[in-house]
Amino acid sequence: MAAPAKALQVLILPGDGIGPEVVAVGEKVLLNVGQKFALDLKVAYGEIGQGCVLRHGVPLTGETLQKALESDSVLLGAVGGSDPGSQAYAVRPEAGLLAIRKGMGLYANLRPVRLMGALVAVSPLKASVVEGVDLLVVRELLGDVYFGEPRGRGKNRRREEYAYNTMRYSRSEIERVARVAFQMARQRKGRVVSVDKANVLETGLFWREVVTRVQEEFPDVQLSHQYVDNCAMQLIRDPRQFDVILTSNLFGDILSDEASVLAGSIGMLPSASLGLRGALFEPVHGSAPDIAGRDLANPLATVLSVALMFRYAFGIPEAGSLIEKAVEQVLQEGYRTADIYAEGTRRVGTREMGEKVLTKVEELFRSGPA
Ligand code: IPM
Ligand code: MG
Repeated sequence: MAAPAKALQVLILPGDGIGPEVVAVGEKVLLNVGQKFALDLKVAYGEIGQGCVLRHGVPLTGETLQKALESDSVLLGAVGGSDPGSQAYAVRPEAGLLAIRKGMGLYANLRPVRLMGALVAVSPLKASVVEGVDLLVVRELLGDVYFGEPRGRGKNRRREEYAYNTMRYSRSEIERVARVAFQMARQRKGRVVSVDKANVLETGLFWREVVTRVQEEFPDVQLSHQYVDNCAMQLIRDPRQFDVILTSNLFGDILSDEASVLAGSIGMLPSASLGLRGALFEPVHGSAPDIAGRDLANPLATVLSVALMFRYAFGIPEAGSLIEKAVEQVLQEGYRTADIYAEGTRRVGTREMGEKVLTKVEELFRSGPA
């Protein structure tokens, strides 16, 4: 008999709003599929976001970050309070997310956007435009205006207030995320579109130069460039032209929300953040305080994030495929949360959607190799 596998530690950070509900579903799928693939998964919990601010005065404690660093993987729900208002930046819930990304060195954020066949009718875009969309946004996650210094507010000589941030990228920051994008493209259709604003910004021109150099290490991958404004348009006009989109932190944030429409709903979009000291998986959507606690949220982005965890953190792509297939079939059978509802389909809540996925996982697993 094979020696029992070493235990894998997963830290679960439910966060705010709908985070706890979608993560509860994700955890069930994680444990269920983990068992099927003979993994010894150990789960622990921590706090992040608004709730953490209320209890501890900061959106992420050093203790939780330490736990994350000691874990093999982190599953995160969502952060964000209902009041975007006037809190100081350091105690805003979002600062917790940025702190864990930074603390874990998560420089590459993968956001796969695939329109599952059953959801073609849900898209606000014509089927002839979106059918078959399958692209991957590789977003740099540790640089840019998100972390650039100096930042702040001041008053000029006329005593007028101003605010400023710094868009900054170093060569190595661009190189390492570009390599991830080229490697991903190798496992896909072999095409990278690098997105920048090289016609206006020094950072954009530098980004383009560095990415072009890195491509020389990947002669089998085809590289082209787009300005970000054009890319925003191309994503809606002709999304099937894209395989891998490589871009900076801010542009990636914006373009990935836009791209989520191609997948039917942002409630369908998973993400994987990879880097130097671990890996973190989270749905792309936010905390949606308006529907929190009402069993309305779509848990599939979290379930699909768990699929990415099996793929990228545990190196078991078959387990990832099993989950993705289960999701696809549940949708084909017509089960829908509110965000992807269409006439003639059956509306279910967060928990029931989770149950449907688990039943399907069971069925697919029994009926043979994934
Ligand atoms: C995302 C979110 C975050 C970001 C916020 C919540 C800080 O929008 O992950 O896309 O801007 O990165
Ligand atoms: Mg965003």
